[in-house]
Amino acid sequence: MTDRHHTTSSEIERYAGLFAQRTHHMRSSAMRDLMAITARPEVISLAGGLPDTSTFPPETFAALMAKIARESCASALQYGPTEGFEETKQRIAEVMAEEGMKADPDDMVVTTGGQQVIDLVAKTLVDPGDVVICEAPTYPGAVPVFSSYEADVIQIEMDSEGMRIDLLEETLATLDRQRRRPKFVYTVPTFQNPAGVTLSEPRRRRLVELAQERELLILEDNPYGLLRFEDESLPPLFALDGGEYVLYLGTFSKILSPGIRLGWLVAPDPVLAKIKLGKQAVDLCTSSLTQQLVDVYFEQERWQTYIKELCALYRERRDAMLDALAEFFPPEAEWTRPAGGLFIWATLPDFIDTGDLLAQAIQQEQVAFVPGAAAYVDGRGGSSMRLNFSCVDADLIREGIRRIGKVIREQIALYSTMTGRTTAQARPDERGVTASQSSAEGEDLAEVVHLPDRGRQRRGA
Ligand SMILES: Cc1ncc(COP(=O)(O)O)c(C=O)c1O
Repeated sequence: MTDRHHTTSSEIERYAGLFAQRTHHMRSSAMRDLMAITARPEVISLAGGLPDTSTFPPETFAALMAKIARESCASALQYGPTEGFEETKQRIAEVMAEEGMKADPDDMVVTTGGQQVIDLVAKTLVDPGDVVICEAPTYPGAVPVFSSYEADVIQIEMDSEGMRIDLLEETLATLDRQRRRPKFVYTVPTFQNPAGVTLSEPRRRRLVELAQERELLILEDNPYGLLRFEDESLPPLFALDGGEYVLYLGTFSKILSPGIRLGWLVAPDPVLAKIKLGKQAVDLCTSSLTQQLVDVYFEQERWQTYIKELCALYRERRDAMLDALAEFFPPEAEWTRPAGGLFIWATLPDFIDTGDLLAQAIQQEQVAFVPGAAAYVDGRGGSSMRLNFSCVDADLIREGIRRIGKVIREQIALYSTMTGRTTAQARPDERGVTASQSSAEGEDLAEVVHLPDRGRQRRGA
């Protein structure tokens, strides 16, 4: 017997002949791999998309569980309906109303996290080779899902106003000419993971119009909408469309806890019926216990206060990260300024590979981030990185950014030594506005984005 963690090639061969075709298309989630490394206490992790669950009062948790034990112990320990409990769906409707959405509990299925929604929607709609459209960069956790269903993923560039809908329209026209109908558009329009940008209102309206004109399905993934630090909220796509072509994915992970593994989908009847069949095959139903936890928790006003507290905390941490980036990253670097959510996206000079940089950052400086390539299906994004600001305190954020800045500067110095050239200075005309300029000009937060173009011809902004 070999060490469980070191599979030998003969062991791989022993099983390889048994693996289904589809396993060849499965790829690992970069974030999940990173979690193992970043769980080491000596590593400062700016990698995960983790909310700070230490902010949730243990006594509140204990009181909620005690209430369940007293009032509904047997049913909390029992299987539940595939679509979820009525009470939970009612609470979900209330959470959605907070963002101006009217959703009917009958159009919902409660899922085991939002991640399961992405999987079930792909399982329901995608045959191998079918087109799925998403943002460039996209949520890194969606990439392995699309790969495992062998989707042909087309990523649409973004700028500071989110997905370029003009480019989407061009793509749709090209697909028309090829007689290919995309199965759906996957988008995280608000405080996007990973780029931190938000789709502007005119673009939201145009995207929904396109969906209606073309009978095009959209999967709106909105884990972060309530984590807003500034600006007015924008209408979710679901609110603009009324749920005809927009399938809505929500989750409790970022406003309560990812440990409870509770998300949901709102979709039209025929889609929902298939989703439920898919879900039955996967896990029969979502945890009764955590659904009941949500019921009793969202009964109280406290949940809104808790979200306000989270927003205040994350805003402070975002500001700490923005300040540290300005202080420690070299002038060639650029980054986004999110008005909410959990992430900043930074782009470095083209010759830096953030995959290599990560290895160096972990080994030498014990700090981690998500390399940008994880957010692309085609190897782009190699000089970008996703930085999370929700999970560690402001001092550690500052120290983490200082350490990453140090390895970046070392790579830049090495490049100069090896090539005899200084690095290209940031060129606002080609590369967007640099961080230092933007703050000097007092631009709005989230106004500036430069998205990665490693190996890419066309520029987004
Ligand atoms: C955009 C997006 N979608 C889906 C998920 C999955 O969340 P969960 O399965 O915890 O609900 C995440 C988690 O980070 C996310 O950022």
